[in-house]
Amino acid sequence: MSSDESYNFVFKVVLIGESGVGKSNLLSRFTKNEFNHDSRTTIGVEFSTRTVQLDNFTIKAQIWDTAGLERYRAITSAWVFTKNRFSSFHKHNSMSNFDVSVSRYYRGAVGALLVYDISKHLTYESAERWLKELYDHADPHIVVMLVGNKRDLETLRTVPTEEARDFAEKRNLMFMETSALDSTNVEAAFNEVLTAIH
Ligand code: GTP
Ligand code: MG
Repeated sequence: MSSDESYNFVFKVVLIGESGVGKSNLLSRFTKNEFNHDSRTTIGVEFSTRTVQLDNFTIKAQIWDTAGLERYRAITSAWVFTKNRFSSFHKHNSMSNFDVSVSRYYRGAVGALLVYDISKHLTYESAERWLKELYDHADPHIVVMLVGNKRDLETLRTVPTEEARDFAEKRNLMFMETSALDSTNVEAAFNEVLTAIH
């Protein structure tokens, strides 16, 4: 067995949030240490895994990603594997691209990163709507972190850190600001969620 295949737990974590906030880049930064400056919107559902050591446990994090825009989420009731055709992200074996229902997307998820863009206030305002979809479909005990991404765009910031932190506190969410571009807090965000789960 390769080291990648020996683990104590598999934790499914879902990425949610508006289109363009950087979900796919947070995923590729965490699982492959890659960033794509002109990434396309995600078609259907993708996932990627990374095995991490937390305390004395080896955790396999299976992170699911889909488009923020409903028309790209390709929601069907069937598993339709459409193999690696659509985006340049699909070089990796661990990633496939498939269509899946909303309930299947959330089913079994033990963690979620609800991502917004600190430079686009509208993406933050929609957090409430994403939370509703999440709690409509996911386990009520799911660990959720509100993630303000693109922290490197400080000069364009429209969402004050304190405003988002207060909202997160009120809704019992963890909170962090990240940058998939310069890697700030990407490891920390995923690891804190994974730690809170186990
Ligand atoms: P959908 O798949 O459409 O839902 O979008 P997404 O949330 O997956 O966004 P994606 O990761 O494709 O990123 C959208 C754009 O934002 C791309 O041009 C990225 O290069 C850029 N981007 C992502 N993360 C960051 C970041 O931390 N900082 C900056 N400056 N740009 C970022
Ligand atoms: Mg995407």
